[in-house]
Amino acid sequence: MPAENLVPLTPPLQVTPLEPTLGAEIGGIDLGQPLGTQQRDEIHALLLRHKVLFFRDQHLSSEQQVAFARQFGELYVHPTTRREDERLPAAHLILASEAREAYGDARKGRWHTDTSWLLKPTYGAVLRAVSLPRSGGDTVWADSGLVYRGLPEDVKQRIDRAYVTHDFRHALDPIDYAYPVIAHPLVRTHPQTGEDALFINFSMSPQILGWSLEASRELVALLLKAFSNPEYQVRFKWSEGAVAFWDNRSTLHYPVYNYGDFPRVMERVLIADDDIPHRVRRAEARA
Ligand code: SIN
Repeated sequence: MPAENLVPLTPPLQVTPLEPTLGAEIGGIDLGQPLGTQQRDEIHALLLRHKVLFFRDQHLSSEQQVAFARQFGELYVHPTTRREDERLPAAHLILASEAREAYGDARKGRWHTDTSWLLKPTYGAVLRAVSLPRSGGDTVWADSGLVYRGLPEDVKQRIDRAYVTHDFRHALDPIDYAYPVIAHPLVRTHPQTGEDALFINFSMSPQILGWSLEASRELVALLLKAFSNPEYQVRFKWSEGAVAFWDNRSTLHYPVYNYGDFPRVMERVLIADDDIPHRVRRAEARA
């Protein structure tokens, strides 16, 4: 076969799992270059399996970050987050100064999943370090399927058909962005892996529909405690040029605010989804 007809082989990815069910560092790839179909599918499969992928030493520009994310779906333009370059509306800045404005010195991370206030929340996020403190400013992810499976059986039964609210009015009202307060099933079936996982956002005043305020608060506190369990987590120490790519349907994440006044800057691109969060009832499906 003439050499010009040979399909170039892509070198194998180096995959280093970080925790048994959550997180893997991926090497042997340059995210700044367009991916071949095979490599894109491989990364997507790794995302489903490890839930959050980390790539070091990438040093992407905003354009490259957007182009990388775009290979995994339509991009979502968030109405409230700031952006550096209006020509790249899907590249959102995550600024420490905004957290400081919102929470003052008492700022603390919140376990959350991105854009869960939407009827069809974004499924993926690609986050890139732009300006990092010398130490601190890690991000922690929790495996929300593992957290769910670790709950006591009686709690699982109580929340089996529960719906939880996702209220983003505190950010939408100031920009006059009209959107209803949404309730999604508290236990969501992943549309691609079939895994059941908790789907709750602790930064959006979660309340269980139809429960008394007290019962709802108690449950939310119990779930928050469960997410805080290190057995369910992976913690990433950012370095210059690092990129994280995670699945919002199977994880929650928590930015750690422990770096004082340093103006930490990250850039995030969100990937849209067609899925309206739902629970697949397997017994019913078989009947
Ligand atoms: C996010 O919460 O989406 C970003 C996480 C981080 O800034 O560490």
